[in-house]
Amino acid sequence: MTIALRRTGRAENAGLAIEAVGLEKSFGPTQALAGLDLEVEPGTVLGVLGPNGSGKTTAVRALTTLLRPDRGIARVAGFDVVAQASEVRRRIGLAGQSAALDESLTGTANLVMIGQLFRLPRSESQHRAAELLARLDLADAAGRGVKTYSGGMRRRLDLAASLVSRPPVLFLDEPTAGLDPRSRLVLWDIIRSLVADGTTVLLTTQYLEEADQLADRVVVIDKGAVIAQGSSDELKAQVGGDRIGVTVAAERDLAAAREVLARYAQGEVHTDPDRRVVDALVPTGAGCIPAIAAAMSTAGVVMDDVGMLRPSLDDVFLTLTGHSAGPAAIAGEKVEQLV
Ligand SMILES: Nc1ncnc2c1ncn2[C@@H]1O[C@H](COP(=O)(O)OP(=O)(O)OP(=O)(O)O)[C@@H](O)[C@H]1O
Ligand SMILES: [Mg+2]
Repeated sequence: MTIALRRTGRAENAGLAIEAVGLEKSFGPTQALAGLDLEVEPGTVLGVLGPNGSGKTTAVRALTTLLRPDRGIARVAGFDVVAQASEVRRRIGLAGQSAALDESLTGTANLVMIGQLFRLPRSESQHRAAELLARLDLADAAGRGVKTYSGGMRRRLDLAASLVSRPPVLFLDEPTAGLDPRSRLVLWDIIRSLVADGTTVLLTTQYLEEADQLADRVVVIDKGAVIAQGSSDELKAQVGGDRIGVTVAAERDLAAAREVLARYAQGEVHTDPDRRVVDALVPTGAGCIPAIAAAMSTAGVVMDDVGMLRPSLDDVFLTLTGHSAGPAAIAGEKVEQLV
């Protein structure tokens, strides 16, 4: 796929697929975007990571011409999102947080309708619909009404809808929110294959893990502005250290386990009584697991499990801002089982 790019006149910005400089947008007293800057190279994936209300959807809506920013400049595929909105629209796909599908139509009919909106000939729309339904693992459901689709199927159909026009630049607003782990993996694979074909992707997410899996670069936003950026590994390095989680066999051991873990922890030890887990950041990483396991045993704590947890968005936030990402933050996700 090629990306139509207009020279911006500024050598350093020539060739960016997505560029935003100082975007601002307020809704009454709420400043949703407070000078947002973004740069995405063609053929790469930018992950925009932020908690509820941080401005992710507002940024996507401004970049996809659905909302006019109060201040700032944004270009997509080289075109200004305000002055050249129709040029931008021709080159982008958007799969939003709320799927824009017609419930009363079948999967095929939804995609054919979109093809017609893009003025594709009917036969080509039908061909494209069949091709996308197969690619997104929906061929069996193609003739069924969307109202019978599961959440994961809707997400995939919504993504298919955004791909009908073969857009070189794709915006995905929390593409896997609310999906089960298996459906999430399916969508990740689909997004990877689009990127392998040369599509530029901006995806928003509340999951560091998702950005980790898909994004070449990640920006962390808070209150409508970028507070950190880099590769996902660089962000994790900023968190400093790894998180270790210990699951105890019996709830009565939680206090003792907490005391042991505190000796190795950097900062606070968290306790989750429902899951019988204590966890904390440890500066030395997985290397301290044998020592912790031995100390637990000496303290009479019977463990069900001990292992590394990936830093969560909340860990990143806490480190970067000194405050929690709020209720949206997810707990660290278990990645290895060591005992
Ligand atoms: N149309 C609107 N009218 C009024 N306020 C709005 C509107 N759209 C967004 N906001 C406010 O702007 C801020 C940013 O909202 P936005 O939807 O961009 O956040 P988000 O990062 O996408 O959140 P989420 O993770 O919940 O999707 C929030 O405080 C929100 O309430
Ligand atoms: Mg949103």
